[in-house]
Amino acid sequence: MRRVLVERPGEPPVVRDGPVPDPGPGEVAVELLAAPITPLDLLCASGRSYFGAPATPYVPGVQGVGRVDGRTVWFPTTAGMRPGDGSMATVATAVAEDLVELPDAADPVAVAAAGLSAVAAHACLHARGGLVAGETVLVLGAGGVVGLSAVRFARAAGARVVAAARSPVARARAGAAGADVLAGLDGDLDELTASLADACGGAADLVLDPLFGIPAAAALRTLRPGGRMVHLGSSAGDTSPIDSATLRSRSLRVIGYTNNELSAAERAATLRAVATAVADGTLDLPHERRPLDDAAAGWQRQAAGAPDGRIVLVT
Ligand SMILES: NC(=O)c1ccc[n+]([C@@H]2O[C@H](COP(=O)([O-])OP(=O)(O)OC[C@H]3O[C@@H](n4cnc5c(N)ncnc54)[C@H](OP(=O)(O)O)[C@@H]3O)[C@@H](O)[C@H]2O)c1
Repeated sequence: MRRVLVERPGEPPVVRDGPVPDPGPGEVAVELLAAPITPLDLLCASGRSYFGAPATPYVPGVQGVGRVDGRTVWFPTTAGMRPGDGSMATVATAVAEDLVELPDAADPVAVAAAGLSAVAAHACLHARGGLVAGETVLVLGAGGVVGLSAVRFARAAGARVVAAARSPVARARAGAAGADVLAGLDGDLDELTASLADACGGAADLVLDPLFGIPAAAALRTLRPGGRMVHLGSSAGDTSPIDSATLRSRSLRVIGYTNNELSAAERAATLRAVATAVADGTLDLPHERRPLDDAAAGWQRQAAGAPDGRIVLVT
């Protein structure tokens, strides 16, 4: 069978032939249909993640969609976070209890494109962010998979959505996804604070932050007293110039989030909500299909910032 292999941390993977894996106790073999290349896959393979350097060689891919006993299922893996292989192989292994059966109407590749990024967006808005209909939500990085999913889910929940992204292409995507107001991310901290506050029409109730850096610090300053920011990624920077006065003067709540905090049942329920949204057309994310054998080129395009949406490897 064909499999993608990270042979050295920090280097693009290679594609090689290898043995069909033998599922361990509680595991099943999954015939892969689709596996997305995500920021988490690259972070884990870089050797610089907070999970530590991975044992190599290993098959990357923290999630996929495939076939088990005639059923189409989504499955997670812990590739790059713990020893063991992930989804990017024609046959992968998964924990049987973690499988989530997909509705017939959900395109497997579109579900793979949404995957854990859409799960995170949903959980950050609802389970962690406590979104209430009528609130103003400021979504940072709104042209990425997390951001676009958040725009869609927040609109579906009756929120007013302000979408902030650095490029015109990303803002156009967020507009097509239904954002009420579009904003850029240019300027220093004070300039960006002023432009985001203006875009919010005064203040936001909830910020969804996959960026950190200056955008997170500026967005925090746009929150109303008691407002919430859910932080889940650092695409713009590992640190952020958040100031004490802003935090304490308005009794703000900053909530860190990782999908790894979800129980298997919470993750499955949220993935079902994502798959349902894909099936009914609510969640229609840009993505690009590539054969598994093109994994190295796809990986490098994601590292450079994939302009055409999520890259999904297909078999
Ligand atoms: N905590 C969790 O459980 C969890 C789950 C999923 C994702 N995440 C994290 O969330 C982040 C986004 O994930 P994703 O799946 O949406 O990735 P993605 O689809 O690759 O999107 C990345 C986004 O970041 C933006 N971006 C990158 N560098 C930037 C910069 N310097 N300034 C401003 N914007 C910048 C991109 O803007 P353009 O569109 O303009 O290129 C794009 O919108 C990643 O850091 C990821 O690791 C965390």
